[in-house]
Amino acid sequence: MRHTQANPKKQHVTKGILLSGGSGTRLYPMTLAASKQLLPVYDKPMIYYPLTTLILAGIREIMIITTPEDQAQFQRLLGSGEQFGVSFTYRIQPKPEGIAQAFQIAEDWIAGSPCALILGDNLIFADGLEHMLRDAACRPHGATVFSYQVRDPERYGVVSFDETGRAVDIVEKPINPPSHWAVTGLYFYDERVCEFARQVKPSARGELEITDLNRIYLAEGTLEVDRLARGCAWLDAGTPDSLMQAGTFVQAIQSRQGLLVGSPTEAAYRMGFIPRERLIATGQKMAKTPLGQTLLHVAAEYGPSTL
Ligand code: DAU
Repeated sequence: MRHTQANPKKQHVTKGILLSGGSGTRLYPMTLAASKQLLPVYDKPMIYYPLTTLILAGIREIMIITTPEDQAQFQRLLGSGEQFGVSFTYRIQPKPEGIAQAFQIAEDWIAGSPCALILGDNLIFADGLEHMLRDAACRPHGATVFSYQVRDPERYGVVSFDETGRAVDIVEKPINPPSHWAVTGLYFYDERVCEFARQVKPSARGELEITDLNRIYLAEGTLEVDRLARGCAWLDAGTPDSLMQAGTFVQAIQSRQGLLVGSPTEAAYRMGFIPRERLIATGQKMAKTPLGQTLLHVAAEYGPSTL
């Protein structure tokens, strides 16, 4: 793993929403007493992975949206964000009325800025991910989404491309998918996002669909669709099988390389958000775990710019 030098371009997107509501019915009975995004993916709570993605994108102002019942547990786990050198704001989504509703809930906090959104159950691992994220965060106009080739596109938002590779359409959970390219749950939007989100109407299943928001940018010709390459992994840990697969994947990489996947503490250190002392303090707190020991190893072996 190499550190990427600070991006010389101006970062436009500095705020991000971590959407962690929903009822998790596909994971019953596990989610009857605990939020899906707090369930373990190998050695960390699920939410650590998308949080790490936002940190690697250089985003330091983060809103965490949860159900009313689960908010206290998220606050207990994550606190103010100080431990990661970021700032958390917590909000509630009373009912799961659609992903695009996040921009109504957060509108006053977004306050006319550009904003990213990541779903709390989405795990993305890719070589060069930081570059891709920083490029998206530095794009001054329009929106950026990421697509990934999957075997079962009918479960997702699906994007089709013309022969030049330009995205021409996005449809939500199509019965006859036009391609195998699913849209992942990571989105970057410019400062018009709340204005556009207000135009989205509930779909046939009664939700404010994120796909409909993306279609507004697509129609305007300002939607960038970055395709994740073959070697990348995108997992959404929303079913027992995908939860297990995600955990096995993380275990395989970590035990083989001795490096961490989805550690917001390590990512914050790499990004220069926290000093070495904070990394060591977190490592010592968890010194009985391989995770804590790896953080201490990182602190001893690497400066932030050599990771
Ligand atoms: O994972 C990527 C996919 O996410 C996209 O390809 C689809 O276009 C997008 O609609 C979404 O599809 P899902 O079927 O996976 O969405 P789901 O309803 O499962 O919600 C995804 C996560 O967002 C889930 O962890 C719960 C959270 N959520 C969802 C809704 C609808 C909320 O917090 N609030 C909500 O209102």
